Amino acid sequence: MSAPELTFSILTLFPELLRPFTEEALLGKAQERGLLAYRLIDLRQYAGNKHRKVDDTPYGGGAGMVIRVDVVERALADLPLEDHPDEVILLSPAGPRFDQRMAEELATKRHIAVLCGRYEGFDARTERLITRELSIGDFVMMGGEAAAACLLEAVGRLVPGVIGDEESHRQDSFSSGLLDYPEYTRPAEWQGEAVPEVLLGGNHAAIERWRRNEALRRTLERRPELLAATELTPQDSAALLELGVSAEQLAGWNAPPPPQPKKRRVKKAPEQT
Ligand SMILES: C[S@@+](CC[C@H](N)C(=O)[O-])C[C@H]1O[C@@H](n2cnc3c(N)ncnc32)[C@H](O)[C@@H]1O
Repeated sequence: MSAPELTFSILTLFPELLRPFTEEALLGKAQERGLLAYRLIDLRQYAGNKHRKVDDTPYGGGAGMVIRVDVVERALADLPLEDHPDEVILLSPAGPRFDQRMAEELATKRHIAVLCGRYEGFDARTERLITRELSIGDFVMMGGEAAAACLLEAVGRLVPGVIGDEESHRQDSFSSGLLDYPEYTRPAEWQGEAVPEVLLGGNHAAIERWRRNEALRRTLERRPELLAATELTPQDSAALLELGVSAEQLAGWNAPPPPQPKKRRVKKAPEQT
């Protein structure tokens, strides 16, 4: 089998927490198909003492324990030399917020090492061993394993071949810059609520336009700040004006002007003699 497209080496005190994510569903299948590979590495192996203790009390006092930098150093040094990671990510609520753009960038790498913290996190000097810090949101969890699972799910699915229909992630929320449009399936009517008529008609151009307009509507209602970073078309501008957006707001998002209505040619009246 050829080398995997992307390998994740996850360094954690609880490797078994991540096992189901690497063995089940599409991530598991991607491993069986040789597209992705996962190494779940127990940091305690690198404790360097017979009690397998990886943490110590913080200098300066205070509550909690801190994971030692020398433990992390030994664990990273033990990764196979020929397969050196091109990214070493430390998961921390204090890092820049993970998003779809970062997921897209990370999906182009060959080998990503991920450091999952516990307790009060890592000794600050661990920063010298990493390429970036990432947070998955403005909240604090007990450990980095759930954050690592988010990373696996978000990055893994962008590696070509991992999910069947490449088109399906081009239309996802954030990939186009907008939130995804609403989707419907059978039954066509449920508790008095019918599926929008246009989706049943088979007019592909009309369906595409409806979907784009719904994506614009949803984004405007839920996450208007995303519109400033989206490449909008003149048709989008027309749809946004109809949704109540002002010309000033459009200009603020660098949206192009809406298409000009076609001028109707006025027939000249025959001259009177
Ligand atoms: C209890 S937290 C440590 C929190 C740290 N004292 C702080 O306030 O920044 C333990 C570990 O959970 C992980 N973690 C918690 N919340 C996270 C988040 N929002 N994003 C990424 N990792 C997180 C990190 O790996 C962290 O080292």
